[in-house]
This record gives sequence, C-alpha cells and structure tokens, in this order.
Amino acid sequence: MYKIAVIPGDGTGPEVTAEAVKVLKVAADKFNFKVDLTEFDFGGERYKRTGETLPDSAVEELRKFDTILLGAIGHPDVAPGILEKGILLKARFALDQYINLRPVKLYPGVETPIKDKGPDEIDFVVVRENTGDLYTGTGGISMKGTPHEVAVQSAVYNRFQVDRCLRYAFEYAKKYGKKARGKGDKNTLALCGKTNVLTYIYDLWERAFHEIGKAEYPDIEREYYHVDATCMWMIKNPEWFDVIVTGNMFGDIITDLGAMVQGGMGIAAGGNINPEGVSMFEPIGGSAPKYTGKGVINPLAAICSAQMMLATLGEEDAADKIEKAVMYVTGNKLKSLQAGRMGYSTAEVGDLVVEKLCE
Ligand code: IPM
Ligand code: MN
Repeated sequence: MYKIAVIPGDGTGPEVTAEAVKVLKVAADKFNFKVDLTEFDFGGERYKRTGETLPDSAVEELRKFDTILLGAIGHPDVAPGILEKGILLKARFALDQYINLRPVKLYPGVETPIKDKGPDEIDFVVVRENTGDLYTGTGGISMKGTPHEVAVQSAVYNRFQVDRCLRYAFEYAKKYGKKARGKGDKNTLALCGKTNVLTYIYDLWERAFHEIGKAEYPDIEREYYHVDATCMWMIKNPEWFDVIVTGNMFGDIITDLGAMVQGGMGIAAGGNINPEGVSMFEPIGGSAPKYTGKGVINPLAAICSAQMMLATLGEEDAADKIEKAVMYVTGNKLKSLQAGRMGYSTAEVGDLVVEKLCE
C-alpha cells in the first residue's frame, strides 16, 4: 500500500494528473499493490484565495506520505517566482529531494528535431543535483535603484551535497547504464561542469568525482564535459551519453535541451528524489495556461512521471509495463506529441495507455 499525495496544481496540471492517476490505479490492480491517494490544492488559485503557497504545516503533512505526484505550478495572474519558489522549490528543499532525475529518451514514432538520430541514439539520463548551486538564494542587492546598484547571487556547494549526488549517479550508472556506448566495454558516467571558468565549484565536483569513482566505482568509466560542449554534443552526437551528472543550474538548462531532443514537453518527465525520504514526480513542462480545460494537452509526460514514481518505489515491473504501453502509444497511435495535434483528446491518450497495459 502506497500513500500518495497528489498535487494537480495549475493550468493543465489537473488534466494531465487525472490521466496519470488513471494509469496508476489500473497498474495497482494489475500488479497487486494498492494506492491510497490524497489530493492537495496547492497552486495559483489557492494562493490567490489565501496568500498561501506551501505552508510549513503542509510540508509536515507531506512528510507522512510515501511519495508525491505533482501536475504543474504556474499561474498567469501570479507574478513569476512566487509559486515556483513557494511551492516547487520549497518542496524540493524542505523534503531534501537532492536528486532531480531526468531521462532523455526518444520513444518510437516520436519526432526529434535532430536529423538522422532515432531511439537508438537518443537514450540517456541526466542526474541533476537539486538542492545547491545558484538555487540557494545566497546573495543580495545593495544600493537598489541607484546607478551603483549591485546584485550578487552565488553558486553554493558543499562536499556533502556533491558526494551524495555523485554516489547516486554512480549507483545509477552501475545499475541502469548501458555498456559500450561506442567507448570501451564499461558503463559510463559523464560529469558536466565548467572547470575552465568556475574553478571553485567545479573543481570541487571534479575532485570528488574522480576520488569517489576511483575508490568506489572502478568499473564505471569516467568522462568529463564542459557544459557548453555538453549542449553541442547532445545535438551532434547524443549517442555518446548514457548517464550525465551535473549541478543544479546546468542541469536545469541541459534538461530543457534534452526535453526538446526527446520530442518536447509533452513527453519529458522527471523525479525530485530523496532516496531516504519523500520524493516528488512531475512532468517537466509548465502549466500551459493557453490549453487549460480544452482536453488537448498531452498527458504522457505526467504518465511517465507516475511510471518513474513506481520505479522509485520498487514497482519495477509495473513501471516497465507502463513505459512499454507509452512506447506502444507513441509508436502506433499518436499523430504528434503536440497539444491539439495528437489525433486524440487528453483523456483518450490516457485510455490508450490503459488499454495497452491491460492486454
Ligand atoms: C524545472 C523548472 C524549475 C527549476 C523552476 C520552475 C523553478 O524550470 O523544474 O526545471 O528551475 O528547477
Ligand atoms: Mn527547468
């Protein structure tokens, strides 16, 4: 029995979350586990009504769950930053979800903007550190409003944060890595950094990477790429990558690039993971206000985040079958992943996945 907190959130969040929940319930029946779902209304509407984003009491409440399923956060009437910081980042930080796991996998039938590359070439995972870096809010503004105004925002990492993220990434590469991505016969972990300029932060990352790798994971091949080069190779030779580990800010940026490479926001899912605590899974696209309530948005990213959730809970078999069902649907049913162009409504796409899952 899994106690799952569901936060549908804003915009199209509720529509896509409904489909993810539909798939979860069917998977539970089929694979003999139970889900106990509790819905929370955190998001823009609640903020407008009460001024609350994610209060401390809610964080304490969320700690009692096994996991969290999130739809989308972001409301056209609320100034940018308030909901993102108040809900999404607050949950990530307060629940110490120190890994943001983001697969970049091209499913069958899905169009990628990269010429001559297909599902064989585009299949990697980004392990994004999720608690430090430029996201800590360290800094400030002085002499505001004057011509001499100064703004400082620092990238912050300590060795503990870096080590635990690297260990997660090495373990991931050990368990799920694909051997011989054209480079020898070992699984590979690539560190993405900027050691030529960020000589403090990525010096720390690089030293920790090689120390841990050498001492604890001699069977994993280690590679290093600067972040700018990572962007270049993700487009030119995505088949070079298997598992990439990086800091929070670079991880944010390269995973949006990754989302486009794998066919867009309609399919890109991610997990904010605390391996020892409560994790939270979300489609990485936003709340898409212009499509809200029309039943045209693609729910596959939300369904894939539910699938990642089950994999993380240890329901690997169910997760695997959901992924296969999604792959069947992209490969055989949908005309496009784009909102309004799928050839099916949001709910129908959920039904297609369920149908395949039940075969
Ligand atoms: C993401 C988003 C968030 C981030 C924003 C909304 C705070 O872009 O999940 O990638 O920067 O982490
Ligand atoms: Mn982002």
